[in-house]
Amino acid sequence: MALKGVAPRVAAPTLRAVSEASPPSLPVDPVAHIVPLIGEDAVRTLVAAFYRRVPRDPILGPMYPPQDLSGAQARLTSFLVQRFGGSKAYSRERGHPRLRMRHAPFRVDQAARDRWMELMRAAMDELGFDARVRAEVEVFLDGVATFLVNS
Ligand code: HEM
Repeated sequence: MALKGVAPRVAAPTLRAVSEASPPSLPVDPVAHIVPLIGEDAVRTLVAAFYRRVPRDPILGPMYPPQDLSGAQARLTSFLVQRFGGSKAYSRERGHPRLRMRHAPFRVDQAARDRWMELMRAAMDELGFDARVRAEVEVFLDGVATFLVNS
């Protein structure tokens, strides 16, 4: 039992300590536990909140197909659901993601990349994502967004 007024001596494990202690057989995909944690519907709601912001955005709005915004929304949802450990429908329907190639027709510069992340962060704010889940989702999206910059 902790003494009154005395801070507990055992510190919470740091991320480094946890990862050093992890056996090598753990899954390598760091985001595959997200859907088991929050469910596919939360991913659907996140992408919907993102796409609500796209059409009125001066940088991103003109890049997306106005006549097929719901199709674009469905593709990103399906991709993220799969990456986050849910249904594999994306690969069945679209094959390998090849995201660099699929973004090649668009001018993804630093400003577009930053705006994309800004809209995603605003969508997560709106939905009140759990802080830990949010941090993990953000690190993942941030990495992919940087990887997709092509001009
Ligand atoms: C960096 C800024 C980004 C810009 C400007 C951008 C822009 C676009 C555009 C204009 C499309 C076409 C919409 C469609 O018809 O599907 C698209 C598709 C897509 N984007 Fe991005 N995107 C960005 C970042 C990302 C990130 C970070 C991810 C994933 C984490 C992503 C995943 C996808 C997927 C899965 C598709 C559909 C691919 C398919 O055809 O199956 N994008 N993106």
